[in-house]
Amino acid sequence: MTDTVAVTIQRGAAGETPRDDIFTVPYREGMSLLDALIWIRAHADPTLAFRYSCINANSCKECVVSVEGRTEYACTTRLTGGAVSVRPIGNKRLLRDLATDTVPPKEKFAAQD
Ligand code: FES
Repeated sequence: MTDTVAVTIQRGAAGETPRDDIFTVPYREGMSLLDALIWIRAHADPTLAFRYSCINANSCKECVVSVEGRTEYACTTRLTGGAVSVRPIGNKRLLRDLATDTVPPKEKFAAQD
C-alpha cells in the first residue's frame, strides 16, 4: 500500500504554453482527486486553479477535468495511490490550470452599459 500519490497537473492560463507540475500528496484510502487538489492548494501551491462547489454530492458538475485522458468529475474519481495525470477538459474555454469556462452560454449575464 502506497502512502503518497503523485499528481501531475497541466498548468497555465489560456494563451500560455502549458507545463506539467507534479505534486506528492499524502494518500488515504477512499480519497478523491478533488481531495488531492484541495490538499495541494492548501499545502503546496495556493495558486492552483480548479473549480468545485458541492464537493462530493456530484451535483454542481463544476469539478469536471480530464483524468488520464477521460472526462471525469474530480469529486467522484477515487485515487488508488501511485500516480495520476490531470488536465483541463478540452472542449471548454480554458481559464487557468484546471479551471475552464463551464457556464453554458445562455446562462451568462449580458454586459450592462
Ligand atoms: S464538486 Fe460538485 S460535482 Fe464535483
